[in-house]
Amino acid sequence: MRTTSCVAIFLPLLVAVAPGCKVGSGGESGASLYEKACARCHGPDGKGGIASAETQGTQSRDLSDPAWQKVVTDEELRQIVRDGRRTMPAFGHVLSLDRIDAIVKHLRSLAPKAP
Ligand code: HEC
Repeated sequence: MRTTSCVAIFLPLLVAVAPGCKVGSGGESGASLYEKACARCHGPDGKGGIASAETQGTQSRDLSDPAWQKVVTDEELRQIVRDGRRTMPAFGHVLSLDRIDAIVKHLRSLAPKAP
């Protein structure tokens, strides 16, 4: 499937689903915040592998990897999103702490559950 048709299908779905799952983040769910702020580089499911001129060709790791999810703490995740890391942009000036928390919760939901 070409990227354009993916977007055309995905966006209406998101609009339909998002109002049902609000969290304490100004009425926006972690999933919709992730979709707006992170998915263009990390992919809708966090699998990553998207390099661009913006990141100087650096690909991000698979955020849904359960082995990595196990060792990274919520505080580290919050800090990476707030302050950025190497070619990963900082979001501390555009996202409130509530919103960053909601995104961190969403990141946790990307990892397949341990058996
Ligand atoms: C402009 C593209 C871009 C955007 C937008 C972006 N990231 Fe990243 N992110 C990257 C890249 C590239 C890396 C790897 C940085 C490096 O190691 O040089 C990264 C790294 C990370 C890491 C650390 C992974 C590790 O290797 O330890 C986390 C966590 C992360 N991003 C989460 C997010 C979240 C959450 C958002 C949305 C708020 C987001 N990113 C938005 C490009 C992006």
